[in-house]
Amino acid sequence: MSQTLKLAVLISGRGSNLQSIIDACALPDFPATVELVISNEPDVQGLERARAAGIRTETIPHKTYPSRREFESALQSVLTAQPVDLICLAGFMRVLTPDFVSKWDGRIVNIHPSLLPAYPGLHVHERVLAGGEKESGCTIHFVTPGLDEGPTVVQKRVPVLTGDTAETLAARVLEQEHLAYPEAIYLIANQKVKYDKGVAFVDDSSPYVPPKKAAPAPTPAEPPPAAAPAADPVAPVLAKTASPVVKTPSAPAKETKAMDHHHAPADNAPDQQAVATATAIWGDFTKATVYTVVLVAVVLVGMAAFLL
Ligand code: GRF
Repeated sequence: MSQTLKLAVLISGRGSNLQSIIDACALPDFPATVELVISNEPDVQGLERARAAGIRTETIPHKTYPSRREFESALQSVLTAQPVDLICLAGFMRVLTPDFVSKWDGRIVNIHPSLLPAYPGLHVHERVLAGGEKESGCTIHFVTPGLDEGPTVVQKRVPVLTGDTAETLAARVLEQEHLAYPEAIYLIANQKVKYDKGVAFVDDSSPYVPPKKAAPAPTPAEPPPAAAPAADPVAPVLAKTASPVVKTPSAPAKETKAMDHHHAPADNAPDQQAVATATAIWGDFTKATVYTVVLVAVVLVGMAAFLL
């Protein structure tokens, strides 16, 4: 049975992981809501993302506090002013003291762009490349006093490719980060994660599967594949009728194809069939008329020659 987790998300910048959490929380039945976003940096993109989603924001600029302890005291006041079940550090670039972390033991998670315990700390992608790794990834873990040391909730892997730069690798890892955070929150809310004194047991036997987004409808500028000539029911009929007289009325058929941009092929198929049938009849009628006229002319010429 899941509970709806009230989240506080702490950021320092771009907020793309925050956005992935906001988007997940907007899905039907997702077991969490973002109640509060706190940034230690003013005017960052993540704050705009939160405001755009109608989420309460707070800025606590760490530089304006004389010490880390006083900064954390302000942070704690904001976090305890309303109910918060889980703190999600999402690109939050401040190291938290053991004192602060212990207050939220088992209720604070972080995202790190490596396969922890490998490559804790900063400049991860550069170090992964310099280390000649074949694989990297990201980790969501509980926060414990040691930097990037807490037990793992979710880990996602990506290959390191030949020619990768820190930027290309970071982009590949970031895609997985955006899947990892919603998954971790889902597992925690569904009590699939048991945390006790710095140790976590994760039951990921029924993993989180995000709902698929509906495919966008084709625009008028992009005709559906069914409008291709091979699928055109008129084409075989026209191909069978070799007479040049029959080819002339093919203009209406082209017009019908142009209308395929706005109609499903199944809707206009009977109309195209009718055009083809009428075209064939018209061709036969024209041929018969020409033969009759030629025959009458020959007879008249013959009679005139006989009489003269
Ligand atoms: C992410 O790569 C995260 O793993 C790291 O900082 C980055 C934050 O990105 N801790 P964003 O602000 O969520 O876009």
